[in-house]
Amino acid sequence: MKILILDTAEAAQERAAEMISEAIRERSRTVLGLATGGTMLPVYERLVACHRAGKLSFSGVTTFNLDEYVGLAPSHPQSYRSYMNRVLFSQVDIDLQRTHLPRGDARDPEAEAARYEATIAQCGGLDLQLLGIGHNGHIGFNEPTSSLKSRTRIKTLTRETREANSRYFRADEHIPSLAITMGVGTILDARGCLLLAVGAGKAAPVAAMVEGPLAAVCPASALQLHPKATVILDRAAAQDL
Ligand code: GLP
Repeated sequence: MKILILDTAEAAQERAAEMISEAIRERSRTVLGLATGGTMLPVYERLVACHRAGKLSFSGVTTFNLDEYVGLAPSHPQSYRSYMNRVLFSQVDIDLQRTHLPRGDARDPEAEAARYEATIAQCGGLDLQLLGIGHNGHIGFNEPTSSLKSRTRIKTLTRETREANSRYFRADEHIPSLAITMGVGTILDARGCLLLAVGAGKAAPVAAMVEGPLAAVCPASALQLHPKATVILDRAAAQDL
């Protein structure tokens, strides 16, 4: 694991955006794995700014997001499809047909998970997977005790995760309790992984990921097995290292 510690959250997010831009410039037909969450918003803002400045084209890029809530249609404002369309896809020159997220409203979510996993393989696998980390050490929606060899499947969200994500939902809205998520094994198959974490709230899971034992109780610790994993942190997220 290569650990980069930047002074501020902004500098960390800038560095992550640079790494993604470099991957796209190196290989115009890059297959990117993308993540959602608050941490990633400034990263996508920077990528959009780079595109607007004429320095970055997404025209050959294929994307696969980590996860989606079960039960939410793509048009639901809190779906991860809506998030991605809003913050990145509608702002750059990407071919929407090449942007993939699991369908949260699929009639058979298990079949949808299998289809998603197969589509990643058909596209030749992921060149670079962008990751955030949950307060409980999850990556994607691989909650603690997820098998380190898991593939894309349905996971039940912990109460902690539902609480953390409730800020995006209206008070009267139901917060989904299930998600379709790439598995830990799916993520480890990416040729490169880039995990970004900022803020003191992420210091404990970051320490468990980097210095703790390799263990299913901290799914992010599986990155210790990856031959090409980069972790970008600000000082606050790195304070327990
Ligand atoms: C969700 C996503 C994760 C993300 C996490 C952290 O649970 N499924 O992929 O890493 O949130 O989000 P934030 O960046 O808002 O802390």
